[in-house]
Amino acid sequence: MEYTGINYTDLEVSILSMGTATIGVDNTEQQARDLLDCYLEQGGNFIDTARVYSNWVPGEKNRSERIIGDWMQDRKNREELVLATKGAHPRHSSKREPRMSYEEVAEDLDGSLKSLQTDHIDLYYLHRDDPDTPVSEIIEMLEDFAAQGKIRYYACSNWTTERIRAAQKYAKKNGYHGFVANQMLWNIGIYNMGELDDETLVKYDQEMHQLHRETGLAAVPYTSQAQGFFTKMKSDKEEDQKKVKNSIYNTEKNRQLFNKLEKIAEKHQMNITEIVLSYLLSQDINVIPIIGCRNKQQLEESMAGIGKILPFEVMNELEEFVGSGIEHI
Ligand SMILES: NC(=O)c1ccc[n+]([C@@H]2O[C@H](COP(=O)([O-])OP(=O)(O)OC[C@H]3O[C@@H](n4cnc5c(N)ncnc54)[C@H](OP(=O)(O)O)[C@@H]3O)[C@@H](O)[C@H]2O)c1
Repeated sequence: MEYTGINYTDLEVSILSMGTATIGVDNTEQQARDLLDCYLEQGGNFIDTARVYSNWVPGEKNRSERIIGDWMQDRKNREELVLATKGAHPRHSSKREPRMSYEEVAEDLDGSLKSLQTDHIDLYYLHRDDPDTPVSEIIEMLEDFAAQGKIRYYACSNWTTERIRAAQKYAKKNGYHGFVANQMLWNIGIYNMGELDDETLVKYDQEMHQLHRETGLAAVPYTSQAQGFFTKMKSDKEEDQKKVKNSIYNTEKNRQLFNKLEKIAEKHQMNITEIVLSYLLSQDINVIPIIGCRNKQQLEESMAGIGKILPFEVMNELEEFVGSGIEHI
């Protein structure tokens, strides 16, 4: 496993972060712990969770954070990890109802510290934005949490480029660094995917790429493997083919892209999973993809062999094909 710094911080993270949205939901608690152990054994150290993870299913709330908290206590490994969590998620009843007041975010953060059984979060994300709250209030709130020692660094998720620029401008003017990372929906299939049913998610685009290039802000893409769409295209298992058929990534253009990826994979002696992740890791900016997995086999496959960088000619061929508007020189 290779490691990288997150610009403007002293955080050193593995180049793949482990997503934990579905731990203890899509699998049992024991399987979730096995996955966390496996991730560490493969050299991973960057765990991504959120206050709301598991809250869309009945039963115990905040399950992901609680499982990670118990696991870290048992393994006594908190200091080995770079722990990222998120607060300020809108109410589940209506994603249009933001929760960005100081009290609401402070409640989330205190809840996260308690569930994770730690006294600080290394990287604290705002899970969504509330465009009606001035960036000045938001940055001052995060600075206050940092001053209290509850968070080390802060970041945003699902913010538009325009709002990130405004927040960074305010931070700079007031002598703060501001956001050190940006978490968004990004994988090679997004440019030609079907319609998202959650309009509060923000996709990567050319304008955002420009922001990352100019500022060195770290990009931490989620759904980095397009939910396994391209890998499953190759599978002859009935279950996988069913998932491919129903996938939001299942468009004519993405099926053509799969054929292209297969050719590139063969030429560069890589598998499809590697190519999908290498596309992100070969960008000319600081990128740390978050991978999801349902079982150990998937996790091991996603972590194996990662590190090959695609030549910029191949990157440009892919960018042109998907129509991202991004050019590598
Ligand atoms: N900030 C946000 O708003 C936000 C939103 C979404 C996610 N996230 C974060 O990002 C993490 C990852 O998101 P994600 O789960 O959408 O990422 P992903 O890696 O694109 O998708 C994970 C899914 O891909 C399939 N998969 C993974 N490895 C595979 C392999 N080797 N072969 C075949 N299929 C494979 C599995 O699907 P099957 O289970 O169908 O086999 C797995 O559940 C989340 O856990 C969370 O931490 C953040």
